[in-house]
Amino acid sequence: CGIVAYIGSREAYPIILKGLQRLEYRGYDSAGVALLDKELAVFKKMGKVAELESSLVGKNLHAQSGIGHTRWATHGEPSDRNAHPHRSKSGKLAMVHNGIIENYAPIKKELLQKGYAFESDTDTEVLLHFIDDIYQNDAENLEEAVRIALKRIVGAYVIILLDQDQPDTLIAARKGSPLVIGIGKNEHFLASDASPIIEYTKEVVYINDYEMAIVKPDELILKNPGNERITPFITKLDMELAAIEKGGYEHFMLKEIFEQPTAVFDCLRGRLDAKKGTITMGGIDQHLDLLKEAKRIIIVGCGTSWHAGLLAEYVLEELCRIPVEVEYASEFRYRNPVINKGDVIIAVSQSGETADTLVALENAKNQGAFIFGVVNVVGSSIARLSQAGAYTHAGPEIGVASTKAFTAQLTVLYMIAIKLGYAKGTLTKDRYQHYINELSLVPDKILDVLNSAGSIEKLAGKYQHARDFLFLGRGYNFPIALEGALKLKEISYIHAEGYPAAEMKHGPIALVEETLPVVFVATRDLYHEKLVSNAREIKARKGMVLAVVTENDTVFEEIADDIIAVPAADELIAPLISVVPLQLLAYYTGLAKGLDVDKPRNLAKSVTVE
Ligand code: G6P
Repeated sequence: CGIVAYIGSREAYPIILKGLQRLEYRGYDSAGVALLDKELAVFKKMGKVAELESSLVGKNLHAQSGIGHTRWATHGEPSDRNAHPHRSKSGKLAMVHNGIIENYAPIKKELLQKGYAFESDTDTEVLLHFIDDIYQNDAENLEEAVRIALKRIVGAYVIILLDQDQPDTLIAARKGSPLVIGIGKNEHFLASDASPIIEYTKEVVYINDYEMAIVKPDELILKNPGNERITPFITKLDMELAAIEKGGYEHFMLKEIFEQPTAVFDCLRGRLDAKKGTITMGGIDQHLDLLKEAKRIIIVGCGTSWHAGLLAEYVLEELCRIPVEVEYASEFRYRNPVINKGDVIIAVSQSGETADTLVALENAKNQGAFIFGVVNVVGSSIARLSQAGAYTHAGPEIGVASTKAFTAQLTVLYMIAIKLGYAKGTLTKDRYQHYINELSLVPDKILDVLNSAGSIEKLAGKYQHARDFLFLGRGYNFPIALEGALKLKEISYIHAEGYPAAEMKHGPIALVEETLPVVFVATRDLYHEKLVSNAREIKARKGMVLAVVTENDTVFEEIADDIIAVPAADELIAPLISVVPLQLLAYYTGLAKGLDVDKPRNLAKSVTVE
């Protein structure tokens, strides 16, 4: 979910509305605002923010403070009544919440006994009534009521409250979900990330877990749970407004796919110097001995970030000869993993806020592991929890399906592996220089692929009616097959499976028939002959073969129904290039089917609930 709030002397509604549009990537099944003029008014609507906006045309929305929310349903189906903000019994308090209250059931029971009625199925309404009950009976003011209530809460949250009796104050608190406060002149902006704030001010404070903020137009008070004041740490945003706008592209996803040459270049810039043959990374340099001596590396992530981790496993083991495990954060956190001294955890996350990853890391850190973050969003929770790290510098990614963040993650992970391998002596000087050269050529090669976007769009038109897709790859291209399948299902809603090409014989081959497109990620490598055989096996069963190949691959030209040629690259580095046509294929398939590619149904970009 995304939350935004404003307090100051401007009109709050337009600021909140625009903020919600910027945060919509975090969830978009319903949206709402609470505005406080003399009386509190709450408006909410199922559907995207645009639907809320049109339902409010002509209404009196005058207010100088307000809170807003765009939701990704957890407790209770998407509906008007489950949308936030929620309102207290008296109608005087309104609250928005991002996160999950795990122990809402016993609290709800108590509140029902006290005569509270519930209008929604949400855990949020339970927390609000709980705060309200304490506010009415046991606390001096709302701030104290919130503090008392949160002591009993198990779960993750960011909440912001608006109180009709205290029109000059917003109360906010966080644990586990993100909150940024922008500091203006006699005004404050609160949001889940900096994107709603950036056009008004660059001075922000990232709120930490267990902190509470009492926000007035001209004052920001931060307190810890013991009611002691904390000095707000003000940081300057290093982000331009243009980075979060579409800049002439039809969709953010397309813009971000096309930004990849720049994203990879920015990620390499200042770190990799092909002429000098050096890779300089502060996070690695400072901890080189520790990393060199790592007994084991455990990579933790979710979704596309997990795929980047899987490829990094192949690369790190090859270049550094350190055993690597790749873990889904959601599994890792609950299965009592064995963590030993000398284990290094690499956390991979675009947002730096994914709840499962965050908690998995907290657990591992408590058990003594060293956490190295590969994160895109500067200042995010995972970045702050990490003991060392390297930012991916891909710039804001807004399309829900990750594209440029993935290639930037890979770029960082490659640099880590190459640098570490050389430092350990498991990578010769020649190979080291060779990989550095290869990496430095990637931006131009991606650009080449982008120049053939038109032909990929045609292929998407041809295959858009398929019911299922299979994506196959081996070795370094296996994680790319998984990522290709994930992209297609996210954006086009076509069922797609990624598989190791050889493993196909043990199951998926049963699916092969005339109507099944099978995508081979078959750039030239050690396994090329084997993939050729696998493709023949598909053709022998009348499946359709669409192959991503290295240019001038005459063998696949003969076998495949269609081919997408990409520039030649070292087999270890090639996935950085071979993933790009698959992103385009997913994008154009979604587009051909008339779907909302930037906001595919049911998904959210930043999943801050487990
Ligand atoms: C969500 C997004 C994916 C992303 C995953 C992990 O599911 O839709 O695109 O890969 O979360 O997110 P993270 O921000 O941790 O990389």
